[in-house]
Amino acid sequence: MKTVMFGGSISSRTSLLFVLLVCTAYFRFSSAFIDGLVPNGNFELAPKMSDMKGTVVVGRYAIPKWEISGFVEYIKSGQKQGDMILVVPEGAYAVRLGNEASIKQRLPVTRGMYYSITFSAARTCAQEEKLNVSVAPEWGVLPMQTMYSSNGWDSYAWAFQAKSNVAEIVIHNPGVEEDPACGPLIDSVAIRALYPPRPSGMNLIRNGDFEEGPYIFPNTSWGVLIPPNIEDDHSPLPGWMVESLKAVKYIDLAHFSVPEGKRAVELVAGKESAIAQVVRTVAGTDYVLSFAIGDASNYCEGSMIVEAFAGRDTVKVPYESRGKGGYKRAILRFKAASERTRLMFFSTFYTMRNDSSLCGPVVDDVKVLVAHRA
Ligand SMILES: *[C@@H]1O[C@H](CO)[C@@H](O)[C@H](O)[C@H]1NC(C)=O
Ligand SMILES: *[C@@H]1O[C@H](CO)[C@@H](O)[C@H](O)[C@H]1NC(C)=O
Ligand SMILES: *[C@@H]1O[C@H](CO)[C@@H](O)[C@H](O)[C@H]1NC(C)=O
Repeated sequence: MKTVMFGGSISSRTSLLFVLLVCTAYFRFSSAFIDGLVPNGNFELAPKMSDMKGTVVVGRYAIPKWEISGFVEYIKSGQKQGDMILVVPEGAYAVRLGNEASIKQRLPVTRGMYYSITFSAARTCAQEEKLNVSVAPEWGVLPMQTMYSSNGWDSYAWAFQAKSNVAEIVIHNPGVEEDPACGPLIDSVAIRALYPPRPSGMNLIRNGDFEEGPYIFPNTSWGVLIPPNIEDDHSPLPGWMVESLKAVKYIDLAHFSVPEGKRAVELVAGKESAIAQVVRTVAGTDYVLSFAIGDASNYCEGSMIVEAFAGRDTVKVPYESRGKGGYKRAILRFKAASERTRLMFFSTFYTMRNDSSLCGPVVDDVKVLVAHRA
């Protein structure tokens, strides 16, 4: 929460009243910023029985707080599909989006600010599934092809910059499967305002400690995926790009081990899971890139290597993980070749947990400092 500061001393009743008024205005204004589930974001408020045909929702406004279109099913946890039992991550209900179906909701936001949306989704059929998440005029297609967690549910983040004071969030299944009952389940839609950090002090990296990022559900233990092909200016992980084919996982101290602060990144898909950032440098100057590598204390065991790049320089840092948490620090000295130096991290190997879910080394506390002359 931000603090509001007032200049001068407050002695008279009028100024106290003024403060109260300003505070009320401030809190009303900031009510758009409350991080967490959007109204009925976990779909626990059910449609009326008269708005349902079996599990299919009939009527645009049948699900409280949402507007739907196309084949949308209202799913109760424990419901069966073929021989599969559908489990819902939060509460007892979720929705399923059939071919070309969508759900949307309008939220008050502040024009110009950045926001990240987090939601949980599960694939239900073997086919390739994806979701188009949009807040006009921006959109992103998130692939659901790879499952990262073992229970079928993953949480995904997507960010946008508000172009007006209302954001209409749309989650759309652009798929055209033969079976309309195929199509991902959606649960727990949340939003968080992002405060993109600037380089602080001598450190040239923005958000090198990964403390600023998307909303993580307090009740889910599988982190949040930052999807592939995320560009700099609209990253749910401010400052960082995900340019690889696969996602990286954003993890928190409440559910994992993190080397520094409360949040970090787990490189879950080997060389296909990379994060990058471009920093401003002075050609010919010597710099030191430093970072922490560890494991998330999630039973991800084995020999790991993180490869770090700074321009043309590179270092491979081995880490022996026993899956119980822990980290070490590493550095890469480099001489900048131009005014911009690209930094990148990926994991050399693919690692899996004993439940066959993807996992890997954790990277945190990234700094780039000008090297001191000896
Ligand atoms: C995603 O949705 C947006 C908004 O409806 C649309 O403009 C865009 O073309 C869609 N993208 C794809 C690839 O379907
Ligand atoms: C998270 O779990 C706790 C304990 O099980 C529960 O009381 C709380 O309502 C849950 N929070 C959400 C947002 O579901
Ligand atoms: C994975 O390892 C953990 C810790 O050793 C253990 O508790 C769990 O039962 C194992 N799971 C499987 C599927 O082997």
